[in-house]
Amino acid sequence: MDDLALARSLHVVAVVLWIGGVGFVTTVLLPAIRRLKAPEERVAFFDAIERRFAWQARATTLIAGLSGFYMSWRFDLWSRFDSLHFWWMHAMVAVWLLFTLMLFVAEPLFLHRWFQAQAERRPAETFALIERLHRFLLTISLLTVLGAVAGSHGFGF
Ligand code: HEM
Repeated sequence: MDDLALARSLHVVAVVLWIGGVGFVTTVLLPAIRRLKAPEERVAFFDAIERRFAWQARATTLIAGLSGFYMSWRFDLWSRFDSLHFWWMHAMVAVWLLFTLMLFVAEPLFLHRWFQAQAERRPAETFALIERLHRFLLTISLLTVLGAVAGSHGFGF
């Protein structure tokens, strides 16, 4: 297997594990917690379960980013960023940047504490906000996957 095939395979496996996890959290875990737990317990319960996924998401984000930049460098794809035709290249970097900032900067520095403080004051609303945020992240991630697979196999939008 040449290095590009290896980078592409790692990229896709990382994206599957990462975005698949976001999909499970958004469509299965969060609705289940909403149904089964009282509003005051929801955020703390979600926090305890999600902590493990956060490490998985950090590792897969790192692998997806490294393999993605490696492919861009080896294929010399930088000129794609000058054209809106390759909107899915911009979308990949934007989604990656958003998750990277959230997982590595915002969450450890202040977001985690902010959500906990909010949850004490307004538990139901805070949990609803967490659900909306996950739905938004899942939607833009899936649109990006759609655009990237179609675009990199020659389909133009
Ligand atoms: C730093 C961020 C990223 C960079 C630089 C990057 C770069 C790339 C490159 C260069 C390709 C190959 C394009 C081609 O063959 O023409 C690719 C493919 C792909 N990327 Fe990314 N990517 C990044 C993040 C992401 C993210 C966040 C997602 C998902 C949300 C994603 C999903 C995909 C998919 C599904 C493919 C298509 C694989 C295939 O069908 O062969 N990438 N990416």
